[in-house]
Amino acid sequence: MNGRLRIALYQPDIAGNTGTILRLAACLGLGVDIIEPAGFPLSDKALKRAGMDYLEMAALTRHLDWNTFEDWRKEDGRRLVLLSTRATTPYTSFSFADGDILLFGRESAGVPDPVHQAADARLTIPMQGTARSINVALSVAMVAGEAIRQLE
Ligand SMILES: C[S@@+](CC[C@H](N)C(=O)[O-])C[C@H]1O[C@@H](n2cnc3c(N)ncnc32)[C@H](O)[C@@H]1O
Repeated sequence: MNGRLRIALYQPDIAGNTGTILRLAACLGLGVDIIEPAGFPLSDKALKRAGMDYLEMAALTRHLDWNTFEDWRKEDGRRLVLLSTRATTPYTSFSFADGDILLFGRESAGVPDPVHQAADARLTIPMQGTARSINVALSVAMVAGEAIRQLE
């Protein structure tokens, strides 16, 4: 059980992706932080369709906004590890630690500069030349998989 590793979603705007991530996190035993505002209500049909009954198992914490999330994170003493297409360090070169929060940006716009700068580490999933980005739920699966591999 990966009780201390967490996934955070910054203002997610596609309900189906969030449902898929909540299902994955429930299956892997990872906590999920949603940094609001989200672009959909948590009662959204697409979220329920993608998350199915795993939503009941998901360890979800909602944070009112970025500042509220940051206050909680610092109080809890957790490292913030941002996944971004703008970063240069490959996620496979990084040493993950218990307690890390893996932060993923919104589908439409990633994260704003202040959030980028607040991260303790910024990692990327290397892509082929002209590719723009990987679906956020697939990004979570790849990076959480590597973090779990290292920690277990
Ligand atoms: C669809 S992408 C966002 C695309 C957005 N236009 C941008 O420029 O950031 C949603 C999130 O998935 C993650 N992501 C997608 N592809 C990635 C990659 N190659 N490396 C690291 N993170 C990635 C990031 O957290 C990103 O914010």
